[in-house]
Amino acid sequence: MSLSRRAFVQTVGIGAAGAITSSLIGARGREHAIWSTFETPLFAADNPIILASNENPLGPGEKVLNAVRAAFGPTGAPGGRYPFSAEGEVRDAIAAHFTLKPENVLIGTGSTQILRTATQVYTSPSRPLVGSIPTYEECAGYAETITNAPVRGVKMDSNLKLDLGATIAAAKGAGLIFYCNPNNPTATAVGGKDTRDFIEKVNRSSPNTTILVDEAYYDYVTDPSYETMIPLAIQNPRVIVARTFSKAYGMAGLRIGYAIGHPQTIREMANWESGGSITVLALKAALVAINHDPAYLAAERARNKAARDFTIKWFADRGMKSTDSQANFLFVNIGRPVTGFRNACAELGVRVARDFPPFERTHCRISIGTMDEMKKATEVFGKVVAPATAAA
Ligand SMILES: Cc1ncc(COP(=O)(O)O)c(C=O)c1O
Repeated sequence: MSLSRRAFVQTVGIGAAGAITSSLIGARGREHAIWSTFETPLFAADNPIILASNENPLGPGEKVLNAVRAAFGPTGAPGGRYPFSAEGEVRDAIAAHFTLKPENVLIGTGSTQILRTATQVYTSPSRPLVGSIPTYEECAGYAETITNAPVRGVKMDSNLKLDLGATIAAAKGAGLIFYCNPNNPTATAVGGKDTRDFIEKVNRSSPNTTILVDEAYYDYVTDPSYETMIPLAIQNPRVIVARTFSKAYGMAGLRIGYAIGHPQTIREMANWESGGSITVLALKAALVAINHDPAYLAAERARNKAARDFTIKWFADRGMKSTDSQANFLFVNIGRPVTGFRNACAELGVRVARDFPPFERTHCRISIGTMDEMKKATEVFGKVVAPATAAA
């Protein structure tokens, strides 16, 4: 099959808008090869304000940092050991934290590894992947390039939330649904009851389809109707929850995440991913973060909400509407193509995210930094949008 045919994505609900190709939903997962197109150089000398990758701008909490420093011990010896037993300790600690059994937990090198493993195990040329357009593209990119699974994209609803009815229709006969909640890049979330009803309907209409619920932004949700699907996942072999230490815990650079699920599902994934790739430093950090840093998490939530509210209001006051953000980023209608806006912001030292088709002509994804950063960034946004506004 030629690359162009393979790259075609069946799209549900796109209608006359036409075909959406893999480059729209598969880019991120493969983008390391062309990283400089999208990413801010981490060690950039000009010290830009980075609002491009949904990270915690403060990094790990002090307790985690101290534990990582101490992990080497006076001789540095632990850093010279393989991490195998530490993987077991972290798995046990995560299980204890949620009052689960260790066999309900699989840890990975970031939740990216969990997403890839689920796609590897549950998709194939005859078992398609279903995901919204747009969403976080790791699974779609992996399906298209590694498992050769067809990818079915489902348009979002008018509030840029997951369209549950259209997803159920698209899921018939699928191997895996990537259910990103809150969804990256649209920042919207679906409530707990709606998600549970959705899962029940999919279980009935397509019993062999696994649903991967990505809760990467769980800690930032403020909508009281939202719920984690962990209690369901441990009972239901067709549901997996993915979590990460990369977001609210501030550990994106350390690379550790995990899956929670039914023991049978965890075993199926663990058979593919046998471990050994997480560093001792990340394991030590996770061990401390999961149990001993609730105050850091509470402060991070409050910090994000205050800076998020400030930024949403700044845009709203200028007629630019954001979606209902339940995460540490905004998806805001800036009413102009994002490329020009992004380039002009970069010139002035503020990096915002890449394009997210099919919204690249209207919506920009802006990660939430510290309040101080958002104040400086909005000054820059003001300068960038001012000429167009004045001309309008
Ligand atoms: C929805 C979602 N899932 C997973 C990831 C990957 O996170 P990590 O591999 O750092 O855990 C991201 C990163 O931005 C994300 O937005």
